[in-house]
Amino acid sequence: MTQSQFTPRVFSGIKPSGGLTLGNYLGAIKRFVGMQGAMETMYCVVDLHAITVWQDPKELSHATREVAAGYLAAGLDPSQSILFNQSRVSAHAELGWIFNCVARVGWMNRMTQFKDKAGSNAEKVSLGLYAYPSLMAADILLYHATQVPVGEDQKQHVELTRDIAAKFNHDYKTDFFPMTEPVIDGPATRVMNLRDGSKKMSKSGESDMERINMRDGAELIAKKFKKAKTDPEPLPDTLDGLKGRPEARNLVDIYAALSDTTSEAVITEYAGAGWGRFKPALADLAVDRLAPISDEMTRLMDDPAEIDRILADGAERARTIAEPILSRTYEIVGLLR
Ligand code: AMP
Ligand code: TRP
Repeated sequence: MTQSQFTPRVFSGIKPSGGLTLGNYLGAIKRFVGMQGAMETMYCVVDLHAITVWQDPKELSHATREVAAGYLAAGLDPSQSILFNQSRVSAHAELGWIFNCVARVGWMNRMTQFKDKAGSNAEKVSLGLYAYPSLMAADILLYHATQVPVGEDQKQHVELTRDIAAKFNHDYKTDFFPMTEPVIDGPATRVMNLRDGSKKMSKSGESDMERINMRDGAELIAKKFKKAKTDPEPLPDTLDGLKGRPEARNLVDIYAALSDTTSEAVITEYAGAGWGRFKPALADLAVDRLAPISDEMTRLMDDPAEIDRILADGAERARTIAEPILSRTYEIVGLLR
């Protein structure tokens, strides 16, 4: 197979390790919705990735349904996209093992996310956390996915996926796995922490004030933006004027992504505005976009059986794509089945 012979297919995933943030929405979910319809799309709740750090079992089930509810509420449609949770398709773990035997320890040692997460505690974290990028490669390559929409923080993992595909293809003298492209576009591929513009907004930061959760109410959203760190300067009239002002840049980028425009257009509209004008406008916009999604998530979460049905159905469809690819992989490797 040459690369052009792979059917375009999109795969991406989010870990059910706490509530969804504005970073997940703008950097991932909103962009997933944008790709739906144009080609085959598969969106996974990657529960096996979540347990690389401790998850309370009850909370894990709840968080898995909640990410699924977020997908659905934001506009992913199970008749257009395959929506499922990873652990329901055992082929992920099976291909993950094979890739553990392809990936090199030296490659894993270069993964910045592992270094950040393990920190000075590297001896005590799970082996799964270290092997995580090779499971992610399996998620993607199990479906021969050609495009993976992710936030900026996942770029290195998609590049590793390509390295694993290339080494597998080389070692087994085949061209079985595609060279997957990361898709990292739009103004909000790295939404920053509201209290510290040098850190990513994440589900697990220390203070709730540093992030917007998709299910925060209007008042809380307004309060968080009001208290967001900025500098005393008003907004400049060009994007260049935001150099060295990461917190200001972040709020402009968030505004742009929420209103489906560019950061340049936002600067043109708000040139010279002070924070007293910009922050309330941003809060109103965020509430306007997030409230309907949050309300729909609440409605969906009232009917967990329906969410489970959608995930089980998606898993069945995912399995029909995964199984022949896994079987062929076993054959290539020489494993008898
Ligand atoms: P995670 O919550 O780590 O499973 O991330 C799921 C998806 O959301 C990935 O594509 C991430 O790159 C994306 N994402 C998470 N946090 C952010 C953020 N602060 N800015 C942009 N994208 C993000
Ligand atoms: N590692 C991703 C994250 O932390 C989640 C993920 C797992 C993923 N498997 C994937 C993303 C496959 C895209 C494709 O955000």
